[in-house]
Amino acid sequence: MNGNLFNLTPENLADEHLCCIIRSHKRHPGVEAKRQWLSARLPEGHVFRKLDQRATVFIEYAPLETAWVPVVGDKYLYLYCLWVLRDQRNRGYGRALMEHCVADALTQGRSGVCMLGAVKQRAWLSNQSFARHFGFETVDTAGDYELLALSFDGTKPRFTEAAKRQTIDSQDLTVFYSPQCPYIHQTVETIRQYCAERAIPLSVIPVDSLEKAKALPCPFNNFALFYRGKFQTVNLIDTGPLGRILSKNVGAVTQENILSEGRRSVKLAERCAAFAWKSCKLTASEVTAWRCCIKLLLPSEISKCSLCVETLRPFQRQLERRTVGMAVCRRRCQGKGGRDEKGQI
Ligand SMILES: CC(C)(COP(=O)(O)OP(=O)(O)OC[C@H]1O[C@@H](n2cnc3c(N)ncnc32)[C@H](O)[C@@H]1OP(=O)(O)O)[C@@H](O)C(=O)NCCC(=O)NCCS
Repeated sequence: MNGNLFNLTPENLADEHLCCIIRSHKRHPGVEAKRQWLSARLPEGHVFRKLDQRATVFIEYAPLETAWVPVVGDKYLYLYCLWVLRDQRNRGYGRALMEHCVADALTQGRSGVCMLGAVKQRAWLSNQSFARHFGFETVDTAGDYELLALSFDGTKPRFTEAAKRQTIDSQDLTVFYSPQCPYIHQTVETIRQYCAERAIPLSVIPVDSLEKAKALPCPFNNFALFYRGKFQTVNLIDTGPLGRILSKNVGAVTQENILSEGRRSVKLAERCAAFAWKSCKLTASEVTAWRCCIKLLLPSEISKCSLCVETLRPFQRQLERRTVGMAVCRRRCQGKGGRDEKGQI
């Protein structure tokens, strides 16, 4: 270690970089949101301890009772983030930061320190094997997520019951976020843009109070994503993983959902049809008729095919721009049970 570690205070907060996104020369909205959030947290006992250099070396923790996470427990500290970026590793900074946090907890007469982990280590979560090296153990689970704790007195913190539910009513892509991480801003903007370009309904819900954070329906460090009513991840995802979540979840849905998905995008509808085929949610003939008609037919043509009439009615508007006619439907639906008013196609 050749640098000094120190805490952010209300006095130095405006002048210090926040370790993440320090290369940005312009004022960064994520960093500014975090700075503002921190200024309200510091008086609550929130600690941000960092290296006195232009480097990503820091720990951030807070009393669990005022930590914006759906975790409860008596007299614990909650560790939001411990990060030593690559070029600073193996110099003892990680140990010094963790030991400071543990010593602080002991000095405050607390029961221990806890943090969010996952069955399999995930990006954007502090390193679990490092925490276990310091005696942390799994004390609770919520789906694929774990609560790790270093307990001094045998008591254990736990996820709230709500956090274990991991479902919401809305079927839309839904993002919950707090300003705790400076990267959140760009992640949310990327998701917004991705969804806007594809007409994917999106709901973005700021978690802007302790009460809202404690009531969240899933594990949460600063970000959570739901799709089709189910919790997906706390990872600040990019467009690649987001696309995979959107397409992966298509396969498990009902015929009704498949049809509504089809309204959003012909390409996705095609994929839905393939999944529907595999999972036998639609019969083969329904899928064939649906797939060819959504792609190729005019609405007037649809009305001629008995299979298409039923299956494709929801797509009328989308099909108005299609120009290929009945010939293609005939080729695809032939022998699969499609019938026009004369009894065949
Ligand atoms: C894990 C991490 C904090 C270690 O930091 P570091 O400064 O290199 O650690 P130190 O040099 O202080 O090592 C201290 C001890 O921990 C051990 N250790 C280091 N990394 C470890 C790991 N990944 N697993 C287990 N033990 C580890 C060292 O061997 C050393 O052991 P010893 O002192 O008993 O001999 C650092 O690698 C890191 O920040 N990783 C990424 C975490 C992350 O992604 N955070 C969230 C970002 S959003």
